[in-house]
Amino acid sequence: MFEKSILVTGGAGFIGANFVSHFAKSYPHYRIIDLDALTYAAHSAVFELQAQMDNVVPVRGNICDAALIRQLLRQYAITGVIHFAAESHVDNSIANPLIFVETNVNGTANLLNECLNYWQEINCMESARFHHISTDEVYGSLGAEGFFTEETPYAPNSPYSASKASSDLLVRAYTHTYGLNTTISNCSNNYGPWQHSEKFIPTIIRKCLAHEPIPVYGKGLNIRDWLWVGDHCQAIDLIFHKGKVGESYNVGGHNERTNLQIVDTVCNVLNELRPWSGHDYNELLSFVNDRPGHDFRYAIDPSKISKELGWTSQTTFEQGIRQTVQWYLQ
Ligand SMILES: NC(=O)c1ccc[n+]([C@@H]2O[C@H](COP(=O)([O-])OP(=O)(O)OC[C@H]3O[C@@H](n4cnc5c(N)ncnc54)[C@H](O)[C@@H]3O)[C@@H](O)[C@H]2O)c1
Repeated sequence: MFEKSILVTGGAGFIGANFVSHFAKSYPHYRIIDLDALTYAAHSAVFELQAQMDNVVPVRGNICDAALIRQLLRQYAITGVIHFAAESHVDNSIANPLIFVETNVNGTANLLNECLNYWQEINCMESARFHHISTDEVYGSLGAEGFFTEETPYAPNSPYSASKASSDLLVRAYTHTYGLNTTISNCSNNYGPWQHSEKFIPTIIRKCLAHEPIPVYGKGLNIRDWLWVGDHCQAIDLIFHKGKVGESYNVGGHNERTNLQIVDTVCNVLNELRPWSGHDYNELLSFVNDRPGHDFRYAIDPSKISKELGWTSQTTFEQGIRQTVQWYLQ
């Protein structure tokens, strides 16, 4: 018998796959329903692995499908939601913004609405929690100095970050208007196993192994604050269980790197683990035209989650990137 049922959305994508694996092992008394539309970004192999776990039920479906959400909430008596499902690639949002509005804004609104109706109906508005996974990109771009805190005003610059900012505001409104028990986490760039090959670090590895040019935007000087996905999963676990209602928590590991530094680190690990006779993978570095509206720098101040919930990142970039490269090589 399970103590409770939790709906995870987007658990066949990068962070969701790592999270479901962590959560299922840490809480064998929870039943986890993983709802994922299995878009191009998902891994069907993850669904197959989850189907073999005793406490995970993978379900293929869309977060915009109100009837399906209504049915799942009741069928499994779900009293917790951890919401990852999203369109997540900035370049795709520039090429095709409307699907980002549909999934990230309408999909989130639909989930919030169905949870509100069900949790009011079964009288568990205080105990049932909706945790929303968001991004530091909602805050816009930093110059060379400073950090994003939870008080930084939202200033999203891409259709992706605008759609995530909109979904955060809907989550906030459902707490303030209806008393829904929500929390939000705004995390910096993640890296680790199961990340889609279109994203920056998997692209570097893929191009190196194919001996093809590694595309780097502009001069490669844009800065991101990189976090090991397992550390992000720990933070979500803590916020879901112990975060305060209606609060947002910034999650980051004080690990700022330029894109050039990322290429150099990945190439050096590959030079060691998969030597390329007579060559250094860094030779493949190739600059391409910059992304339109490319944010210069993101950096998170994680003091709130550290002070209030005792979270800090545990994995150094050197450890994490080595594990990531090893995983892709396998
Ligand atoms: N990757 C990062 O560095 C990062 C950083 C901060 C926050 N986030 C946020 O974390 C969440 C997960 O990111 P990710 O990198 O794992 O994304 P991802 O693109 O790898 O995975 C997204 C998953 O959502 C599913 N999905 C998409 N549309 C759906 C729909 N309409 N219904 C049901 N499922 C749907 C996809 O099939 C996929 O499995 C997103 O909300 C993203 O905004 C990501």
